[in-house]
Amino acid sequence: MCGICCSVTLSIERDRDDLLHKNLLHNLKRRGPNSSQQVLKTGTDYHCLFSGHVLHLRGLLTPQPIEDERGNVFLWNGEIFSGIDVAVEENDTQIMFNHLSSFNNESEIMSLFSSVHGPWAFIYYQASSHSVWFGRDYFGRRSLLWHFSNTGNGFCLASVGTQAAEIVNQWQEVPACGIFRIDLKSSALSKHVVLKLYPWKCISRENIIEEVVRSLNLISDSLPPFVSIEINEARLCLNTPVAPLNKRLTQGSFDSHSHSSSIPATIENLQIFLRDEHMKKQVHQLIHVLSEAVKRRVLCLTRTESQYVNDEFSKTSSKKANIAILFSGGIDSMVIASLADRHIPFDEPIDLLNVAFMTKPTRHTALTKKSSKPKKHLQTPSEENIKGLATPTDNVQDQNFNVPDRLTGRAGLKELKSLNPLRIWNFVEVNVTLEELQRMRQHRINQLVHPLDTVLDDSIGCAVWFASRGIGYITKEDEMQLYESSAKVVLTGIGADEQLAGYSRHRVRFNTHGLEGLNKELEMELDRISSRNLGRDDRVIGDHGKEARFPFLDENVVSFLNSLSILEKADLTLPRGIGEKLILRLAALELGLTASTVLPKRAMQFGSKIAKMENNNEKASEKCSRLQVLSE
Ligand SMILES: *[C@@H]1O[C@H](CO)[C@@H](O)[C@H](O)[C@H]1NC(C)=O
Ligand SMILES: *[C@@H]1O[C@H](CO)[C@@H](O)[C@H](O)[C@H]1NC(C)=O
Ligand SMILES: *[C@@H]1O[C@H](CO)[C@@H](O)[C@H](O)[C@H]1NC(C)=O
Ligand SMILES: *[C@@H]1O[C@H](CO)[C@@H](O)[C@H](O)[C@H]1NC(C)=O
Repeated sequence: MCGICCSVTLSIERDRDDLLHKNLLHNLKRRGPNSSQQVLKTGTDYHCLFSGHVLHLRGLLTPQPIEDERGNVFLWNGEIFSGIDVAVEENDTQIMFNHLSSFNNESEIMSLFSSVHGPWAFIYYQASSHSVWFGRDYFGRRSLLWHFSNTGNGFCLASVGTQAAEIVNQWQEVPACGIFRIDLKSSALSKHVVLKLYPWKCISRENIIEEVVRSLNLISDSLPPFVSIEINEARLCLNTPVAPLNKRLTQGSFDSHSHSSSIPATIENLQIFLRDEHMKKQVHQLIHVLSEAVKRRVLCLTRTESQYVNDEFSKTSSKKANIAILFSGGIDSMVIASLADRHIPFDEPIDLLNVAFMTKPTRHTALTKKSSKPKKHLQTPSEENIKGLATPTDNVQDQNFNVPDRLTGRAGLKELKSLNPLRIWNFVEVNVTLEELQRMRQHRINQLVHPLDTVLDDSIGCAVWFASRGIGYITKEDEMQLYESSAKVVLTGIGADEQLAGYSRHRVRFNTHGLEGLNKELEMELDRISSRNLGRDDRVIGDHGKEARFPFLDENVVSFLNSLSILEKADLTLPRGIGEKLILRLAALELGLTASTVLPKRAMQFGSKIAKMENNNEKASEKCSRLQVLSE
């Protein structure tokens, strides 16, 4: 994970052009603590300040920005997991730059970015054409924002923004609909910035131009008057790195069983599906492709002996974790944890980060209220079941953090321990009080969630920030100890629900619009995952100098899941806890997991109880007033 930034002034005046706003610089440095550098490029009509902040994860440390003898400059916040050769000791930044600076025409640039598999955002200054190229990968797994100055003479691109009260102009996320080029020289001369779009193209979609025009219109609505956007003259496109979604409804074997919503979500009922040979084959293919995705994400890292802390008792017990997992004990995080266990060196601990927000200590009043009034808030059955599990003998202090995700997390830990008793599993209990939540939101998190601004963004942004910080308690020799995760890579299960119909809105859609409607919904959700989730999550996790990695959004995993019919992935005629993400539940079963395979989906904001902490009456889609920055 790196912090990258390019600030462009489209005039020859040099007032404050070699200084970035101090908040912006601070936010960028937090993402890349290992090296910070600046490069200033001055053309006859413009100047650009490039600022690069590197988190060192693999190969030799390559400080950014990098420059070549022709004056090209490159900033890279990405990981090449495949598609382009990178040897173990090489750094991907240098490799991408070597390719770019050897190119003479635009189609070569298209084929380079079409072949990278992995998350990326980049900024490339091409000296010969006085152009800045930039963009995000197909899913938008890395954040990049733009900000056009309101005086019309410049713009800024950065991994993360600032939300200082004195800055009027808003940052916006760079849309992940392709890569962009801005000709700085002609922009300076015409006093008008033209964004040239090089869109992603899915070969099988006929109406490509129509779609591009639609996204152009959407983008241009949000741009200031001196900025416009158009498709590049040569009509060059990038090839989408994944296969298109299979929307056929004929194949598949789930429909050959007679099922109904009365079938309870039990392991035995799940097992029945594995008797089908075709189904079993698909499940094993999923395990294979997901396992490879996890492997790439846990092994692309430098591991050295120095990770051992000097400890006279045992080396193993003091080896540090390199990999952490955002862990609720739900099916997605359990599958990732069990696959990570296959690939991470056997003597290296794995950190399981489990976040809980303190619930108000008014249990009895809440209970009486509930019984006297009809329920306003629709609770998931699981939430209620789990609550019932809290033993009455727990002390009050304890119960405050015994939220649903904490309980499923502990249960999940037990399953993982029986799967591999020799592994050190650090179950990190991150307990967040209301006071700390409010302090850190004002101090940091609101800047990172920005420009997203809803109640849901606030809940998820805060929950992910505290969880990925990795400061909490672990139980060692029956004692609670304060613990800080040293892992620089954080795996998350995002993308599973979007592809496998995990959300309750998918059931609603299925019930009202059938399988066709469900297919459309799933396609739309993967299309918008960049702007809904990934930019925000990348900014939030990157703030700790850690890197988020998303196995369910590996190109090969998405292509495999896209190649299946919806009938092979989920069956929403079955009840919660079995029907949604059915294929993943079967995979979990084959991996040796037990009770967690039939846990219903529970959204993080409810599982961690953050949504209950401050204001129960808000809608998730409302603007969140708590995210606003107070002027100092
Ligand atoms: C990178 O920075 C982090 C945080 O300051 C530090 O813990 C780590 O040792 C640094 N890594 C290298 C290779 O310098
Ligand atoms: C980055 O990797 C290249 C090889 O790809 C190497 O030549 C270069 O020295 C590395 N950069 C640094 C700063 O070590
Ligand atoms: C771009 O350059 C490559 C390699 O030099 C060449 O094969 C290709 O034909 C060129 N394309 C155009 C459109 O000039
Ligand atoms: C954190 O919460 C758990 C309940 O899940 C509790 O057992 C533990 O004592 C809490 N730790 C602290 C330090 O509050």
